[in-house]
Amino acid sequence: MFNTMALSDLIARETQRFLDTHPKSAAHADALKAHWLFGAPFHWMNDWAAPVAIITEDGEGAMLTDIDDNTYDDFCLGDTPGMFGHGRPEIARAVAEQARRGATFMLPTEEAAGVGALLAERFGLPFWQTTLSASDANRALIRWARAVTQKSVIVVFDGCYHGMVEDCFVELRHGRTRPDAGLIGQVFDMTRTTRAGPFNDIGALEAALAQGDVAAILAEPAMTNCGMILPEPNFWKRAQALAKKAGALLILDETHTLSSGPGGATKAWGLAPDALVIGKAIAGGFPAAVWGVSAELAEKIAAVPRSGGRSGIGTTLAGNAMGIAAIGATLRELATPAAFEAMLTGADDLVAKLNSVIADRKLPWCVVHIGARAEIVFAPEPPKNAAAMRPALAQSELNHALHLYLMNRGILIAPFHMMMLVCPATTTQQIDRLVAAVDSFAEEYAREGAAKEA
Ligand SMILES: Cc1ncc(COP(=O)(O)O)c(C=O)c1O
Repeated sequence: MFNTMALSDLIARETQRFLDTHPKSAAHADALKAHWLFGAPFHWMNDWAAPVAIITEDGEGAMLTDIDDNTYDDFCLGDTPGMFGHGRPEIARAVAEQARRGATFMLPTEEAAGVGALLAERFGLPFWQTTLSASDANRALIRWARAVTQKSVIVVFDGCYHGMVEDCFVELRHGRTRPDAGLIGQVFDMTRTTRAGPFNDIGALEAALAQGDVAAILAEPAMTNCGMILPEPNFWKRAQALAKKAGALLILDETHTLSSGPGGATKAWGLAPDALVIGKAIAGGFPAAVWGVSAELAEKIAAVPRSGGRSGIGTTLAGNAMGIAAIGATLRELATPAAFEAMLTGADDLVAKLNSVIADRKLPWCVVHIGARAEIVFAPEPPKNAAAMRPALAQSELNHALHLYLMNRGILIAPFHMMMLVCPATTTQQIDRLVAAVDSFAEEYAREGAAKEA
C-alpha cells in the first residue's frame, strides 16, 4: 500500500525539512568529521534516518533537547540504557559520590555486598559478576560455559543479537548455519562452534542439541533484535527440558527483556535459566552489566582448573566502584515495582492506540510488545521466527521514511528498527503525539501513493 515513489518523495522532502530545522547540528557535523573516524565518536551514531546526527544538549526523563533547541519525545532511550529515564538524579548522586572517593580500585567497596544481595533477590540467581557491557557479559558466560561443560558448541536462534560477540554472528539460510555476512574482519569460521536454529521450533532445537556437543543455548527470552518475536506458549518450558537432557546450559540474555517487569521476563514468565545476562539499563545508563549463575553452575565454575591462576576472562574496569554504586542506585531507586507499573501501563496504552490506528487505516502492520517495549512490525501478523520476519525488515525505505517523519515531528524511536520504549516519565501526551504522528504518516502517504498511482 505504500507506493515506492511516494516514499522516495517523502524522504527527499523530510530530509530537507530536517536540515532546515537542524542548522546547528548540520554545521557541527563538519567539526565532528575533522577528527572522529566516521564523523562521530561511535559510528552507530550515524545510523539514524536523519541526514546528520542530532547533537544532543540535554536529556531529562523521556525528553531530549538538541543544540538547535528542538525537543524530542524519546522512545529510543539510548536503545534501552535510559529505560528508567535520562538524567536521573539518583544515578548522578551515586556516581558522583563514588567518583569523589575514587572511581576504581581493583578492590570491592563496602557497597558491593549489598548490591550482590539485591541482584540475587531481584533476579533469583545467587551468584553474580559485573562487566562493562552486555557484550562482555555474554562473552564471559560463553567462555565459562565451554570451560565447565568441556563442550564447544553454542546454540543461538536465527536473527539473534547479543552484542559484539563474535560467536553469535551467524544466521540460518536454507536450513544451514552460515556466517553473518555483516560481520567485518572475522577470520575464524564461527559455524564450526555455533549452531543457529529457528526460534519457536522445538524439533529444530532438539536436532541442534542431538550431537551432545552443545555447551550452552544463548537466547533472549523474546527476540528483540529481529523486529520483535515472542515465544509461543510452552516454548521455554520445553526448551529448558531439552537443554537439561542434553547437558547444555541455558543462558538467558535479559538486556532488552528487562522491560518485562522488575525481575525481567525470567521472573514474569517463571523461567529457570542456569545463567542470566542483564546490561544497558541495569546501571541507569552508566556503563555496566551483570551476569548471574545458579548455585550449581557457580560450583562448577569454581572447580574449573586455572593455569597459573589465570582465566583470560575480564577487563580492568569491570566491577569498578562507580558502576557498583550505579547498579545499587538503579535497583533500589529506579527499577522499582512502581516504576514498572507506570512503564507497563504506558506501554499498554501506546499499543492499544497504535493498534487502533493500524485497524482504522487498514495498515498491513501489527504491534508486538513485551512489557514496556513495543515494536511496529510491517507484517499483518506477528512473525514466529526470523525467516518469517525478514520480509518485514526488508522494507527499508518504509522504515527509513517513518523514522525520519517521526524525527521531524519531535519523536525518537530506536534507529535500527521500529522499537519504542516507555519509561516511568513518559506521559500520555507523549504517547498521543507518537500515535498521532504514525497516523498522519499513514494518512499522508496512503493519499500520496494513491495520487501517484492514479
Ligand atoms: C539482547 C542484547 N544483548 C546484548 C547486547 C549488547 O549490549 P552492549 O552493546 O551494551 O554490549 C544487546 C545490544 O543491543 C542486546 O540487544
